[in-house]
Amino acid sequence: MASARSGAPVDRPVLRSSFDGLWSDLDGVGRDPRSGGYDRFSWTGVDLGLREWFAAEASRRGLSVETDRNGNQWAWWGEPADGAVVTGSHLDSVPGGGAFDGPLGVVAALLAVDALQAAGVEPTRPLAVVNFVEEEGARFGLACLGSRLMTGAVDASHALALTDDDGTSLAEAMTRAGHAAEHVGVDEAALARIGVFVELHVEQGRHLALGDESVGVASSILPHGRWHFCFEGEGNHAGTTRLVDRHDPMLPFAEVVGAARRLAAEAQAVTTFGRVRVDPNGTNAIPSRVDAWLDARGAEQGGVTRLVDDLQRFAEEAAAGHGVRLTVTNDSFTPVVDFDASLSDRLRSSLGAASIAAPTLPTAAGHDAGILAARVPTAMLFVRNPTGVSHSPYEQADESDCVDGVEALTVVLRDLLVQ
Ligand code: GLV
Ligand code: MN
Ligand code: MN
Ligand code: MN
Repeated sequence: MASARSGAPVDRPVLRSSFDGLWSDLDGVGRDPRSGGYDRFSWTGVDLGLREWFAAEASRRGLSVETDRNGNQWAWWGEPADGAVVTGSHLDSVPGGGAFDGPLGVVAALLAVDALQAAGVEPTRPLAVVNFVEEEGARFGLACLGSRLMTGAVDASHALALTDDDGTSLAEAMTRAGHAAEHVGVDEAALARIGVFVELHVEQGRHLALGDESVGVASSILPHGRWHFCFEGEGNHAGTTRLVDRHDPMLPFAEVVGAARRLAAEAQAVTTFGRVRVDPNGTNAIPSRVDAWLDARGAEQGGVTRLVDDLQRFAEEAAAGHGVRLTVTNDSFTPVVDFDASLSDRLRSSLGAASIAAPTLPTAAGHDAGILAARVPTAMLFVRNPTGVSHSPYEQADESDCVDGVEALTVVLRDLLVQ
């Protein structure tokens, strides 16, 4: 287990108590008391509360806070300038999400600033802590929206027209929250300010747990994407409509769910239909329409795209067999991301110098760091998750591993700041 940390500039008891303090601030925010899961969706009242919390915590540390044109929050230690060292993550969640996915990276970043300030580190370049907006895509369907908009990986007009389940567009949600939606789009000025980006995140798997290490360095993110399958049939009475007269969109959809699993196993990939909308969603009504979203990921990009092509062909036949119309649209695709090799080497060597063992591991989870990697040197640190469970209320990380993570982030940032 990584434990000897002679070179780390942190006071562990102080860090532990500050971690507990910040963590308890977030504890009840957006939490469903029945499931224990978090619903923290961008631009809602819960999110605005989290954004205020972030700004207040940053100000308490003497950081100056600004919001960029896409709604990402930046907290600056030193005057904002090009080539800064940037760290942070996101505060939004999936529906019924865990406590750590996102917030751990933001809390760790704030605590690393505390530790660097307490150690009297004098940065030779500015540092920013970032809170990326709508990382999970839980409200508007497109993950890493804040970083995609910033880099131009998604078109502003397309993004602004995305709607949530109530039909509210991103443009409307931003405007209601007091953010000027007309400025949304590629932000070269904000990108130029990122010299390097290091995101700390809870591991979403058991690689570190199996290796009995508390902290790791990411190597890559597997290719992944989302597709929208829309089956349109004919709504009718559940009792009076004969089986032969039905055009029930649920039937081809059900066949597609099974086929997705079969094809994934053949392609050494994973597929999930985790979100489904049924209209009109009545027990005694044949649905008129089923909207379902496929998440597909795999080790190899060609394997994922072939799998989805095969599934689409299968779905077309299944839909036709039931007299149902089908449309399939690709909502997003992120090719494999290899994090910056020299930055990752540098992380490993600064951690090694501080006697922090940090193995290297890939992940199949998406992150803003993966989007930014196309434009700036980017690396990630992972913190052990003892069960590997994530996107669930049962996501876990031990307090002492979180503190190890902050310590590791502090070591890495200090090295990058005083180079
Ligand atoms: C985001 O966390 C994702 O990997 O879907
Ligand atoms: Mn997530
Ligand atoms: Mn995350
Ligand atoms: Mn993510």
